[in-house]
Amino acid sequence: MTTQRTRVLTGITTTGTPHLGNYVGAIRPTVQASRDPSTDGFYFLADYHALIKCDEPARIQRSTMEIAASWIAAGLDLDKVTFYRQSDIPEIPELTWFLTCVTGKGLLNRAHAYKAAMDKNQEAGRDTDADVTAGLFMYPVLMGADILMFKAHKVPVGRDQIQHIEMARDMASSFNHLYGEHFVLPEAVVEASVALLPGLDGRKMSKSYDNTIPLFAPSAQLRKLIMGIVTDSKVPGEPKATEGSALFQIYQAFASAQETAALAQAYADGIAWGDAKQMLFERIDREVAPMRERYESLIANPAEIDRLLRAGADKARQLATPFIRELRHAVGLRPLGLSGADKVQRQQARTTLASFKQYREEDGLFYFKLVSPQGEVLLQSCGLSAPREAGQMIARLQQQGAAALAEMRSQLLPLSGAEENRLTEALTKIVEARQ
Ligand code: TRP
Repeated sequence: MTTQRTRVLTGITTTGTPHLGNYVGAIRPTVQASRDPSTDGFYFLADYHALIKCDEPARIQRSTMEIAASWIAAGLDLDKVTFYRQSDIPEIPELTWFLTCVTGKGLLNRAHAYKAAMDKNQEAGRDTDADVTAGLFMYPVLMGADILMFKAHKVPVGRDQIQHIEMARDMASSFNHLYGEHFVLPEAVVEASVALLPGLDGRKMSKSYDNTIPLFAPSAQLRKLIMGIVTDSKVPGEPKATEGSALFQIYQAFASAQETAALAQAYADGIAWGDAKQMLFERIDREVAPMRERYESLIANPAEIDRLLRAGADKARQLATPFIRELRHAVGLRPLGLSGADKVQRQQARTTLASFKQYREEDGLFYFKLVSPQGEVLLQSCGLSAPREAGQMIARLQQQGAAALAEMRSQLLPLSGAEENRLTEALTKIVEARQ
């Protein structure tokens, strides 16, 4: 089998200025992961999503520039990855509409963000839909389009976004079921090991707590902010606890194990808070200073950022443009001169061919089965750790029919002789229908 690179895709909403928490939690690990030759990274600025949360044009524009410059300055290799701005891809809103038409309204009713907005209104005694835009309601569909457009296998996201990836899988399945296998079913990856960085006040560093340290604050401002990190009131000479110390945790996210051990020792020896803060400042500045230079030169040259983003969009559209053409054709938006015969054929196929269904169980594993038009289960997989495995097995069965079964026995539930015969027949028909 040819080995295909794993496509990893993620979006960054353009509403803020990147801070140290974003750097440690997302930018740094993503840039590192993007160097792995077995992955094919797609990273984009989710500026259509930003409109849902922010109605300040200048802020959207500024944030787009800052986030793009930050990722590039942090070492994203633009030759290896595809880095683009969502709004440079007109195929995305078009796909959003196609997905909208196969997405149950009930599915969107259950989205956490929308439900939270309704709950908040209800608690406040307001109309449940007060100030809830249709944009917020549709957020998961736009996100589904981002992901499905580029056939992403893995989508690194925060915990709060897992539901959206599940929804994208639902949309992909519904579309595939109606119009044929066009979409890859994506999988969320939640990086458990990345550190949550505390902010100036000790709570999680987050724009909404107003406790952030901008990643590329000029050196003097960086120092000033670090000097403002909350500490307890222990005086110089008094031993200090590393546990629960925001200062210590931030240091740890930048320092080697050895450097961290040295700071722990200094805490035990009663280092003055001012000196510990100076150490933290120097450690962060050492990592950030070289990137800051690149950042500042990019910010001073927005046309260059635009050029890089447009080049990324060109690369992305080499996939998006033919794919949307395929999808338009699939749903029936196509030249009128083409006969509708294939539609009839497809409908016939739907009533005589068995179909694959992919799904996820409570155990968190991924499964597929082959179901006859009458609804009997002809083949059932065991639990698989990734939807990709299911996708690859299905693809082989569709191409090679029963011949592909031998090698995958261990991942399938056993079959009786009679079941085996029915299965072989159904697979043979599927292979023939594809020729
Ligand atoms: N909703 C994501 C967030 O707020 C951003 C985003 C938009 C995204 N489209 C995406 C993430 C597609 C992953 C894939 O974090």
